[in-house]
Amino acid sequence: MTREELLALAREAAQRAHCPYSHFRVGTALVADNKTYMGVNVEISSYGLTLCAERSALAAAISAGAGPITQVAVACIDASPDAPLNERTPCGACRQWLADLAPDAIIYIDGSEGDFSVADLLPYAFALA
Ligand code: THU
Repeated sequence: MTREELLALAREAAQRAHCPYSHFRVGTALVADNKTYMGVNVEISSYGLTLCAERSALAAAISAGAGPITQVAVACIDASPDAPLNERTPCGACRQWLADLAPDAIIYIDGSEGDFSVADLLPYAFALA
């Protein structure tokens, strides 16, 4: 799966985001063992319990018994084209999920030219021995 193909899947998934409060649609597509898994942000009436697209996709992959996660693409389709990078990158909670569940993945952010490792996004990540 190429970077562009996976980003296209992330953008497609984002169309299905459930975000009636923020109206900020996010989609994630990831590859594990040559299979793809998607996630979207899911907001509920108790706002703090919102699930981000990244964790949604990671949970889908883990739930399906997926193998090692090698690529993760994230698309914030409502970010304006000139929005800074930090309006498109995973939140802190999602970075920890990525560190735990996709430590060796390459991360593609829609609208960013460079790609990221988990260590780029979360240096000195917490880990239990
Ligand atoms: N959101 C994500 O899905 N991923 C992130 O890493 C950052 C934020 C969602 C949560 C909420 O539904 C909306 O974007 C606005 O914060």
